[in-house]
Amino acid sequence: MQVGSWVAHKSVGVLLGVWIAALGCFGSDEAAPGAVGSAANPDPVEARRGAAAAVDDARLRAAGSDGANWLSYGRTQDEQRFSPLVQVDAANVDQLKLAWRFETGLRRGHEATPLVVDGTMYLTGSWSVVFALNAATGELLWKWDPQVSQEVGRVVCCDVVNRGVAVYEGRVYVGVLDGRLAALDAGSGEPVWQVQTTDPELDYSITGAPRVVDGRIIIGNGGAEFGVRGYVSAYDPADGDLLWRTYTVPGDPSKPQASEALERALPTWTGDEWWKVGGGGTVWDAMAYDPELDLLYVGSGNGSPWAKEIRSPGGGDNLYLSSILALDPENGEIRWHYQTTPGDNWDFTATQHLILADLEIDGEERKVILQAPKNGFFYVLDRETGEFLSAEAFVTVTWADGVDPETGRPIQNASGDYPEGFALVMPTYFGAHNWQPMSFNPQTGLVYIPAQEIGGPYQLDGAYSYRRGQFNTGVDNTFITLFNRELVSGHLLAWDPVKQREAWRHPLGLPWNGGTLTTAGNLVFEGTADGRFLALRASDGKLLWQSHSAGSGIIAAPMTYAVDGVQYVAVVAGWGGAFAMVGGDAAAAAQVESVGAVVAYALVGDAITADAVKALMASRDPAVVRGADLYHTWCARCHGANGIAGGVNPDLRKSARALGVAFDVVVQKGLPGTSMPDFQGRMSAEDSGEIRRYLLALPPR
Ligand code: HEC
Repeated sequence: MQVGSWVAHKSVGVLLGVWIAALGCFGSDEAAPGAVGSAANPDPVEARRGAAAAVDDARLRAAGSDGANWLSYGRTQDEQRFSPLVQVDAANVDQLKLAWRFETGLRRGHEATPLVVDGTMYLTGSWSVVFALNAATGELLWKWDPQVSQEVGRVVCCDVVNRGVAVYEGRVYVGVLDGRLAALDAGSGEPVWQVQTTDPELDYSITGAPRVVDGRIIIGNGGAEFGVRGYVSAYDPADGDLLWRTYTVPGDPSKPQASEALERALPTWTGDEWWKVGGGGTVWDAMAYDPELDLLYVGSGNGSPWAKEIRSPGGGDNLYLSSILALDPENGEIRWHYQTTPGDNWDFTATQHLILADLEIDGEERKVILQAPKNGFFYVLDRETGEFLSAEAFVTVTWADGVDPETGRPIQNASGDYPEGFALVMPTYFGAHNWQPMSFNPQTGLVYIPAQEIGGPYQLDGAYSYRRGQFNTGVDNTFITLFNRELVSGHLLAWDPVKQREAWRHPLGLPWNGGTLTTAGNLVFEGTADGRFLALRASDGKLLWQSHSAGSGIIAAPMTYAVDGVQYVAVVAGWGGAFAMVGGDAAAAAQVESVGAVVAYALVGDAITADAVKALMASRDPAVVRGADLYHTWCARCHGANGIAGGVNPDLRKSARALGVAFDVVVQKGLPGTSMPDFQGRMSAEDSGEIRRYLLALPPR
């Protein structure tokens, strides 16, 4: 018999042990509740593997109507992050309660969106560690630690983060920080194959989630500041064979380029140094897929180094930096491109979340692609052709006076230049919006953007030379002065992509808040840098509910799913990422610890009414009514209503099972030296026996 831990680790337990021994009741053989492996239940490993095996291309295509599951990073291949679930809605969201909480045991930034496949949740923590949890209880099913060398952390710009996994035909795919792509068995978490997707001699890293496109695993990488050349690759899920690889910037100009698209890009680069240190343009986050057009969309990153003057001294657009690229998923060929920031000079990546939507624009139904990249403009493009439709500033923008409606190019002004002097530019390298996913609700027609107002100083580094293993920007004093908390802010922005204007905003104080989720229950969910988790009405931004139980700052995006008819809303907490590391005063103002955890909320229990209470009283088991009354009169104030301890004092359901008749002795004598009183003279042995019978009749803890 296992005596409850409360007894085991307390000195009074010794005393109690003596009583128990004296009473000779060590022989209890109460069966452990919830024993696993019963014949009625199928093998849980097989069941998980089977559920994940059913996630195939057809299922991924139909994910929109499958509200119970969250099958890929952005929920659906159009990456809208919109859920059709309505059990939780704007009318009842204030009844949301914490259903469970799971701690990853890891520190540093947690950026993952969990996936849920038929009741199993798959997610990553920092250092690319993968977890499978029971989505209804938070119980750990398996964990895979790729054992990334801690030294890899020296050559990642923005913390040792990971944004999540892909699930496909029985396996879980993860991109590992050190450049590996791993396929794990969904049932057991055992690796099936692992391949190195990058040259380990170069400082590439992976933080983005893989995507599945028609039987191919697509993965990108990051590392522009460390001097790498951006690309995206497709792998065969069967064995990890490389199917194709598409570079986003040209290579050695003296040699033929790998594609016509790169030949066309070559004249947009000047000088002869850029290609030796990669040039940048890494594909480190955003992807989306349109199965009808059969186009894969990816966003490319900033130039390496940031300063255009150094990278491409004779000017030029530097294709395909900071661009939205449409690729043929068959062979990776670039079908069209749209460059958001020609000749990027500020680390204005276009790797931010891409959303595919069908919108009515000027009376015409258009298939569009939406992006709110770092540079501060919200873009609407035709996703079939890449035709520019519109762009407007969604935050304060100083470096350009707008986007030319004819050419689709930003109308750059002199204030963003810094060849000889110093420029304070808004927005900046932290972005008007960074990787934190936005969401689109087709019912409100609005996009919900985790927006931020952060300006940054740029000054050319006159003594610049490329240094391997260092942060190469070509910009001096980059991180000085600006992150005073008074000078930066963040807000949840609801943006109308058709009218290209703000619908509403909810101020959040600090920047670097979490991604967003929107649902058919007219809701938007977002976690905040300072550790709150919010629900707002999607149509007008009214704050309806908030929770503080995440226990850390939240930067990841929430998601929702259902198990056994119960809708859960979950989010990964874990303060970290670029801004949390470098943000100084403003990051410290969040006043949160970096603790990795998943929290899941649900509507648990009905609202309390007098009738409901009467019904509850009447429904009690007559055999234990007297014990229940005694318990609630004398014990519940310390041990918890209905025998459920809230985590402060011992849970007596467990004690009643563990202690047997010694329980009655404790009640009579109390526990000297603790706040457990003695009930001698107030309660007969028969009464405490009634309490014990009541506790034993409750479902075990
Ligand atoms: C004033 C608060 C308080 C009240 C009222 C109270 N208890 Fe306790 N009880 C405690 C505390 C605190 C402990 C743990 C003492 C320790 O080990 O530090 C405890 C421990 C116990 C234990 C030992 C549990 C274990 O597994 O180690 C039992 C049994 C118990 N209480 C039963 C009861 C019963 C039955 C009642 C009502 C008749 C009751 N208590 C009322 C505070 C209270």
